[in-house]
Amino acid sequence: MITTICLNPCFDKTVSVDRLQPGQVNRIREARVDLGGKGINVAVVAKRLGLEVQCLGIMGENGAAELTALMDREELSHRFMTVPGHVRTNMKVYSLDGQGVTELNEPGTPLNESSLAEFTRIAEEETAGSDMVVLTGSLPPGCPEGTYRDLLKALDGKKCILDTEGKELELAAKGAHPFLIKPNLREMEATLGIELRTMRAIRDAALLFVRLGVQHSVVSMGAMGAMYISADKTLFAPALRVETKSTVGAGDAMIGGMLLGYEIEKDMAKAFRYGIAAGAASVMTEGTQLIVRSDFDALLDQVRIQEV
Ligand SMILES: Nc1ncnc2c1ncn2[C@@H]1O[C@H](COP(=O)(O)OP(=O)(O)OP(=O)(O)O)[C@@H](O)[C@H]1O
Ligand SMILES: [Mg+2]
Repeated sequence: MITTICLNPCFDKTVSVDRLQPGQVNRIREARVDLGGKGINVAVVAKRLGLEVQCLGIMGENGAAELTALMDREELSHRFMTVPGHVRTNMKVYSLDGQGVTELNEPGTPLNESSLAEFTRIAEEETAGSDMVVLTGSLPPGCPEGTYRDLLKALDGKKCILDTEGKELELAAKGAHPFLIKPNLREMEATLGIELRTMRAIRDAALLFVRLGVQHSVVSMGAMGAMYISADKTLFAPALRVETKSTVGAGDAMIGGMLLGYEIEKDMAKAFRYGIAAGAASVMTEGTQLIVRSDFDALLDQVRIQEV
């Protein structure tokens, strides 16, 4: 069993306009609302790839029934604690004239110490049968610095995958030794406050985290591919060439793919290949649609891994 944790779930609202004009009235052509939040996304991908998965988290009570219904529609097992407030909405505005996507993200329902403590107790209880736990996504307002580190410490003994950046990543790497981290290149640069221009620089940056106690590090680079770094191995995989419809959630899909790979191969370096295929499969789907299993299956054999 795999558990994903989602402390800041959301509705992903996607709208399109002919031409986005700031400061003007913009008429929406099409609108849709999907399930969102990185922890939920990873769980949905893992489920679609055939894994047994559950998602745990906290959500505001207003909108909880609708968000829960969307998880039920995916047949996702879930246990979310509710707190006063509303489920946030993250809006993606597609400008049809080719200006790209503008995102407007709400901060989320504020949490306090006692709700976090209660959630930690639930997480300890509900992950009893899980081999792998994924912690990913932004933290809602009110979470103290080191929230992910503290959760990881409470889940001591589990293999934990952490996808976050900045101080949260640094504190968790130092204090709780996650099994795998998966920053993208921009997040890695922002966390360390340096530019990483070469593969060697990226490897050295990832090794800083490995020395702190992280076992495996995957640095994703969008359409450039990704690197896998552990104490004794560095791999690079170019991204697969696929028709790009939307890159939203490629990193979440990548984690879902690596979860499947690890389940099959029992080896994270070998699981990396599955992550590359899942990331590519996810960009082939529209908007926030995540992944179609048959796309993933067709891509897996095309992944080329190079030892660096
Ligand atoms: N345009 C693309 N074509 C092919 N593969 C892609 C493309 N974009 C991403 N991928 C694959 O997906 C992986 C993860 O993508 P990316 O680095 O964009 O993650 P991310 O920034 O963490 O995304 P998010 O957090 O939005 O889910 C990449 O390493 C790559 O293998
Ligand atoms: Mg990401």
